[in-house]
Amino acid sequence: MQISALKENHDFENRVALTPDSIKLFQRLNLEVLIEDGAGNNSGYNNELYIENGARITSREECLAANICLCVKIPDENDLKQLNENSVLIGILNPYENKKYFPKLNDKKIISCCMELMPRISRAQSMDVLSSQANLAGYRSVIDAAEQFNKAFPMMMTAAGRVNPAKVLVLGVGVAGLQAIATAKRLGAVVSATDVRLSTKEQVESLGAKFIMVEDEESLNAETEGGYAKEMSDEYKKKQTKLISETIAKQDIVICTALIPGKTAPLLISQEMVESMSSGSIVVDLAVEAGGNCPLSQIGQVVVHNGVKIVGYANVPGRVAKDASALYSKNIFNFLSLIVNKETKKINLDWEDEIVNAVVLTHEGKIRLDQFN
Ligand code: NAI
Repeated sequence: MQISALKENHDFENRVALTPDSIKLFQRLNLEVLIEDGAGNNSGYNNELYIENGARITSREECLAANICLCVKIPDENDLKQLNENSVLIGILNPYENKKYFPKLNDKKIISCCMELMPRISRAQSMDVLSSQANLAGYRSVIDAAEQFNKAFPMMMTAAGRVNPAKVLVLGVGVAGLQAIATAKRLGAVVSATDVRLSTKEQVESLGAKFIMVEDEESLNAETEGGYAKEMSDEYKKKQTKLISETIAKQDIVICTALIPGKTAPLLISQEMVESMSSGSIVVDLAVEAGGNCPLSQIGQVVVHNGVKIVGYANVPGRVAKDASALYSKNIFNFLSLIVNKETKKINLDWEDEIVNAVVLTHEGKIRLDQFN
């Protein structure tokens, strides 16, 4: 069986789905590894490195024709036409926004696997791309803020006077938010954070940051069974707006990470709030691709409003492409270990397995997952 990795051709996408350090792992599954010419160039893995580690560099056409084709983002319709019937396509396929591709996947009876639909259970942690990528995005968001910030992060006592520590507020304390808190703390900032899920309080405090939150009846029930945030009522949003307004004016840096799966990101920072911040302050909106937590943020841009820089870099994990690709590649290997039978050299889909059941979107010409029908 052949496994291949495509060169990504989406804007802002620097990652690659298979990195040289994981080639040996894939070979242990009895897979021959094909890499599209130049696929790793943007993430710091050149063809030679792949060849040294046992992969073969080849054309896009040959990669598309492999039994298992790996990507970061879904390839275009022309590419999908070239996939082999009954082959496997694995990536962050974004089925919420890519419904137009479903007929093409079904025409070829592709077994398409959406890595972002991985259940958030202990057994799936090593396959969890949302976590591996969000963790790096959280880190990078603080580095991006530091790059734009014209002050220092840590407190410094010098003969010429005191430099005050930067004040950082993190909105949304999932995987990215927790890493943003940890990174800002390491740089010496004074950090506070908020979320609608009360369970995050302990996590925030264990990182040495201050937790602020609107606590009411609704917040006791703001978490879904899967651990995600629910969309909050208008009444809650009003209280939350008041809390953030009171807090934000004193902050130097705000890192926005709040997301609701499959929905537009909640608006948490209004234009008035940005205008209450002092000139030189920074807002990094990691949620920009889901609509943004701040209405002023623009995908791929740094917008300056009233002296405040609003950073809306797209695909932030792709800004740490070397590490992000390596983790993504391992996530995929761990998932493939579940579905590749190395003795029979066949794909074995066990529908009783909640991981397989949650991740496989199309199979035998049908959309399997009800939420996308
Ligand atoms: P996410 O990316 O969907 O959202 C980011 C954060 O934004 C979440 O903490 C969410 O509560 C928060 N948020 C949403 N609306 C908000 C609002 N209006 N105001 C403030 N904050 C808001 O979340 P992520 O990072 O994917 O984590 C989701 C859950 O999955 C968490 O409970 C996390 O602990 C859990 N998890 C479990 C894993 C496992 O057991 N294998 C692995 C990774 C995460």
